[in-house]
Amino acid sequence: MRALTNILVTGGAGFIGCNFIHTLLEKKSDFSGRIINLDALTYAGNPANLKDIEDRFGGSRYFFERGDICDRSFVESLFKRYDIDTVVHFAAESHVDRSILGPEAFIKTNVMGTFTLLDRARNAWQNASGAMRQDVLFHHISTDEVYGSLGDTGYFTENTPYDPRSPYSASKAASDHLVTAYYHTYGLPITLSNCSNNYGPYQFPEKLIPLMILNMLEGKPLPVYGDGKNIRDWVYVEDHNNAVWTIMQKGRAGEKYNIGGENEWENIKLLNVLIAIVSKQAELNPDKVRAAITFVKDRPGHDRRYAIDCSKIKRELDWKRTVNFDEGLSKTTAWYLSHQEWVDSIRSGSYQNWIALNYGAR
Ligand code: NAD
Ligand code: DAU
Repeated sequence: MRALTNILVTGGAGFIGCNFIHTLLEKKSDFSGRIINLDALTYAGNPANLKDIEDRFGGSRYFFERGDICDRSFVESLFKRYDIDTVVHFAAESHVDRSILGPEAFIKTNVMGTFTLLDRARNAWQNASGAMRQDVLFHHISTDEVYGSLGDTGYFTENTPYDPRSPYSASKAASDHLVTAYYHTYGLPITLSNCSNNYGPYQFPEKLIPLMILNMLEGKPLPVYGDGKNIRDWVYVEDHNNAVWTIMQKGRAGEKYNIGGENEWENIKLLNVLIAIVSKQAELNPDKVRAAITFVKDRPGHDRRYAIDCSKIKRELDWKRTVNFDEGLSKTTAWYLSHQEWVDSIRSGSYQNWIALNYGAR
């Protein structure tokens, strides 16, 4: 088991990163170290996601540093100031639709940002004679989208060749290759995880599940791309983060691990289940909500099916999913219903422009 003491979390103010910090500081008795959260606070990052963490642990076990992962000297200063021995790298531009409209930010953050972090980790963890510390770890968070699109059958394994098809997934694939290159070339101790679609609290409502929940609550159209039969494999965010923590503690250096929910759903079928849950919790008429389903123009290059084979992490590291889909969707819906202030703060300003431009027009 690795001793992980001073953990640099990148992108900790975003959806998965903030859930990771909550889990680690509030639920993991096997972690007693410090978390340094490096986040640029783009549209997707929100310090309110960690307000309670700041109140409880700020200045002792939790430190927020606003900055860009592409900023070489700032990243270098953090390694020194906090004596970083572990990096868990969540920070990214993460939304496929945005990558289609404006790929450049994805190349900058996902490719150049990952390179900068790797390079500064190498610099910090190599001694004067060039030997690399082996009591440290760089864990890279990646996605199943790097594997491309499946037909009706089959699963992505860790050995599936990369075949990214959107600017987002291409930039994530490039970052994965850089991470493994730093392992092979410089001996940097790395692990990687490629996860399927996450859902849960604090997810920015441009992604399918929170967008649909909030649109249902506000009586807005429910935009379904194409024929609605694209398939995603959904995993509750806490299960993903438990897997990440398990890999960080016990995963073999140089290895990658797939993480998934073994929970495939056509978008349209998922939406119908979600309509039932939201209608019940919010006391809406499900027939009226269903009538708001609107089939819209398809996403260009829309991957048809993702499905993860996660037998490696189950077999080697003894991880398993604990939250089933019904329970996870119910918890997620309840969270959005009880966090009106958070929703209001998100659903204003530039977010409204984005939605009007990209969903309203379809
Ligand atoms: P998100 O968009 O909600 O959050 C990204 C965070 O990164 C934000 O806080 C943002 O401010 C920060 N960030 C962006 N650019 C930055 C920069 N240049 N410097 C510093 N911080 C920056 O993303 P998410 O959904 O939480 O995804 C986190 C990671 O998990 C990403 O690497 C993503 O590719 C991967 N992933 C996501 C999913 C999913 O379903 N959401 C599934 C598998 C993998
Ligand atoms: O598979 C992992 C990936 O999952 C992550 O790497 C990405 O960061 C994350 O954004 C997610 O990508 P997707 O493109 O699968 O997620 P999204 O929520 O954007 O869309 C899920 C599916 O729903 C997809 O088939 C497109 C469809 N969709 C999405 C939106 C926002 C709609 O039909 N209507 C919508 O309004």
